[in-house]
Amino acid sequence: MDYIRLDGAKSTFVLDTSGNGIPYCTYWGSRLENSAVLEHIHISKAVPTFPAGLDAPHRLNLFPEHGTGFRGKPALLGHRNGKHWATLFQFKNVVRLDNSLELRLLDPAAMLELILDCQLDPDTGILRRRTHLINLSSLPYQLEYCAAAAIAIPSFCTELLTFHGGWTGEFMLERTPFVSGIKLFENRTGRTSHEVFPGMIAGSPGFSENSGSLYGIHLGWSGNSRLFAEVIPDGDRQIQMGELLAPGEVILRKLERYTSPWAYAGISGAGLNDLSHSFHHFIRKKIMPDKVYTASRPVQFNSWEAVYFDHDLKKLKALAAAAAALGMERYVLDDGWFHHRSDAARALGDWWPDSEKYPQGLAPLIDYVNSLGMSFGLWVEPEMVNPVSELYRQHPDWILNIPHLPNLSARNQYVLDLCRKEVRDDLYAKLDLLLSTYNIAFLKWDMNRTLTMAAHNEQPAYHRQTMAFYQLVDTIRQAHPNVEIETCASGGGRIDFEILQRTERFWASDSNDPFRRQTIQKGCSLFFPPEITGSHIGPAESHTSGRVSDMLFRAQTAFFCHFGCEFNLLEMSVQERQQLSQYISLHKYYRKLIHSGRYIRLALDSQQRNGYGVVSSNKEAALFCVIQLNIPDQVSARTIRFSHLDPDVTYRVKLLQPLHNSIEKMLPNRNRWFDGFDLPGRVLLDEGLSIYMPWPGTGVLIEFVKSNPP
Ligand code: GLA
Repeated sequence: MDYIRLDGAKSTFVLDTSGNGIPYCTYWGSRLENSAVLEHIHISKAVPTFPAGLDAPHRLNLFPEHGTGFRGKPALLGHRNGKHWATLFQFKNVVRLDNSLELRLLDPAAMLELILDCQLDPDTGILRRRTHLINLSSLPYQLEYCAAAAIAIPSFCTELLTFHGGWTGEFMLERTPFVSGIKLFENRTGRTSHEVFPGMIAGSPGFSENSGSLYGIHLGWSGNSRLFAEVIPDGDRQIQMGELLAPGEVILRKLERYTSPWAYAGISGAGLNDLSHSFHHFIRKKIMPDKVYTASRPVQFNSWEAVYFDHDLKKLKALAAAAAALGMERYVLDDGWFHHRSDAARALGDWWPDSEKYPQGLAPLIDYVNSLGMSFGLWVEPEMVNPVSELYRQHPDWILNIPHLPNLSARNQYVLDLCRKEVRDDLYAKLDLLLSTYNIAFLKWDMNRTLTMAAHNEQPAYHRQTMAFYQLVDTIRQAHPNVEIETCASGGGRIDFEILQRTERFWASDSNDPFRRQTIQKGCSLFFPPEITGSHIGPAESHTSGRVSDMLFRAQTAFFCHFGCEFNLLEMSVQERQQLSQYISLHKYYRKLIHSGRYIRLALDSQQRNGYGVVSSNKEAALFCVIQLNIPDQVSARTIRFSHLDPDVTYRVKLLQPLHNSIEKMLPNRNRWFDGFDLPGRVLLDEGLSIYMPWPGTGVLIEFVKSNPP
């Protein structure tokens, strides 16, 4: 038997390549001893032939296909004018470079070559997989679907955690049984989407934050996607994900190749926190450029919910002065700055400063911001055009559409056809001019509508548009390597591992309502670390929900993320200003720990409380936040148990001020809580702390530092 073994620090992945066909995974779990006999593991996973089934046993391999008699949803769908729809690939060879494999297969009858890339990241244990399909025939091959990865899930994984949501409600979680049939998610929005984040987790019964065997999978792709979890009629389970292709979107001519997006998979034997840690670690080490972690992430001011389209230089400067006085470090000028942009119905495409609002261009504002010691950021939405714009007047034919169908507008805008070189060149020239003329450190790159009937020369162009968008961002980054980019799409509509290869942070949601944000950020934290999650203190009354919340709650909610403010700083009470300034100082003091430590979600009653925090790698320091979401049913429901602290370390426990009055009033010995007292780690882990938080929308920040008794 032939096996290929990939080892990480904590995990091992073994492929059996001895058959003639597509290899399969014989083991993927915690790190095996070097001496482990792989043949014995193979024997231990006997696959029978069933009385009413095929005469040959069937194992779920890396890329299940029709030609093996597979009865589930295959990894490849396509045909050549009705033929060659059932493939049977033969294993040719494997090219190995360290922990990266390139498995080559051929179907000589269908004249198709298949290449499966499979890489195990040794540090984090994250497995990356993708697929290439090459047409070797002179007859075109009509590709309908090609999985990036198919992952066999063991039958003990009987539960699924999946995502749903919408605008201002991204990353909502749903826990369901993993039962017969298919749980299918398809995203046709042409961006990663608010509705269907392309990720899911399968796990053993009752899995929780700190227990259970889990398989977590994500598709790194900012376009249409399909992912599904299937219990196949014989009981095998699989998860697949790949790009969702429109009919006729990919037709491979001779020697043309389709390459799927990358799928990322992680495993854990210790629950969701452990799984998240692998993904966070992978993003920090393998996706984000190193330089992101050498400097602190600047506290941002963003103008959007402060002034919207009402740009007045005097007021914008006053806001800059207020932001700097409060200790903020970056000033982002959001929508409303460019030629004739007075509302959301006009001007997208005309990327030069509005001459009435900015008669001398942006320099007076940027220079002022810089003179206050802050860097400057600018909002753009390059892929879009309003029908009321210079660009559209000149080039009405530059949009994605099908001529005989209506041009559907959304937020009064159309999508530019980035498959056209002249469109990309025009956008590049405009962005390059802005970045070359002004001292811009940061771009907030927005995308405020979905793609509908996205056609280039009448053919579906979702895939090409996504690739062209990446190309445009890449070209800008090459020319301006020091400019950081934020990915935003009406909030969190374009967040995935592929866009993160070219952006430094994402805007998680257009909802700054802290109640809503608590839920959004919790879902988001399953795959993404907090420091790349943009989170701002918005106005007291949320403009997306109408809910009113106080400064402390808003600040606590943004505190662990890439922190910022997005409201009129000129209209604050004295108390609010004081609390905000204290929170900005606290954030700066703790951000190194927050942005490098291990992020932990606490296993609390989620109807009542949300708890999360960060523990340093040596476990000598930690900071946790616990938020009360509802009015507690009982006074005694107040225990907060912590996790991932060291049981053998004695910690100095301290509640950070300022604290909500409603909590402080009900806290016996409050001065001791503020000064700090010592507790063994095992008390915090086994019994926790007891803090009564009677009001919803209030919270506590608790510091733990290794105590050094004299
Ligand atoms: C989108 C973004 C917001 C803001 C507006 C500006 O909705 O998500 O943060 O930038 O556009 O129009």
